[in-house]
Amino acid sequence: MNAGSKVNVVRDLRAVLSLGGSVVASPEINLEFVRGFASLVKKLRSDGYRLAVVVGGGRVAREYITAARSLGAGESFCDELGILATRMNARIIIAALGEEAYQHVPESVEEVEEWEKVIVMGGTVPGHTTDAVAAMLAAKLKAELLVNATNVDGIYSADPRKNPDARKYDSITVEELASLVGEEHRAGISTVLDPKAVRIIREHRIRTLVVKGELSRIEAALRGGEHLGTEVVV
Ligand code: UTP
Repeated sequence: MNAGSKVNVVRDLRAVLSLGGSVVASPEINLEFVRGFASLVKKLRSDGYRLAVVVGGGRVAREYITAARSLGAGESFCDELGILATRMNARIIIAALGEEAYQHVPESVEEVEEWEKVIVMGGTVPGHTTDAVAAMLAAKLKAELLVNATNVDGIYSADPRKNPDARKYDSITVEELASLVGEEHRAGISTVLDPKAVRIIREHRIRTLVVKGELSRIEAALRGGEHLGTEVVV
C-alpha cells in the first residue's frame, strides 16, 4: 500500500502545489511522473479539490543561468532565463492535464482571476523562485494548504546532499525556517523554500508541507495522509 492510499479523509480542499522543476525533468522530462501526476490531479478534482500548480525550472533553468552568469550577465537577466524554463515546464504539465487545466500560463499572480479548472503557471518576475510564486498564489486564492514537492524529502538543518550531519525536521516553526533560509535571493538559489516564500507563508499564516516529489507523497500531503515530509508550523 502506498502512503497516499492510507488516509482519504480530506475532500473539497483548495490547495496550491509548488512542483520542483527537478521533479518534472531531471534533466529529461519524466513522462511517467507527468502522466501519473495528471491522473492524480484528475482523481483529486473529482473528489472536490481545487488545485493550482506552480512549476519550477529545474536543471534547464540552472544550466542557462550558470552559462549566462559566466558570460557576464547580471542577476535579473539570469532570473529571466530561469522564468522561461519554468514556463516551458508549466506547459508540459498543461499538455498532460488537457481540458482539466486552463491552457493559458498566467505571467503574474494578479492575472489569476478564476479557479474552476487547474491553474498552472511558472515564474513571474526576477527576484524570487517559483516557491514564492506558489506562496503568493496561495495567499491570493486563500488556499488552505501549500504543498512544496521537491527533490529532497523535507526540510533539513543543512543541505543533505552536501552535509552528512544534516538533520531532517518532521515539523519546523516558520520563525525557525526564516532563520534557516536567510534573507537574500540569488538566481538559481537552492534552499528548499526561498526567503520570500517563507516571508509570505509567515505573513499569511499559510499551512505548508514540504515533501519529496513522488506521487504517493504528494497525494498523502494533499489528502491528510502520511507524507513523510516536513510540516511548517505557522
Ligand atoms: P525555480 O527556482 O522556481 O525552479 O526557478 P527550481 O529551483 O529550479 O526548482 P527546483 O529546484 O526544481 O525545485 C528557477 C530560477 O528562475 C528564476 C530564479 O533565478 C530561479 O532560481 N525565477 C523563477 C525568477 O526569477 N522568478 C520567478 O518567479 C521564478
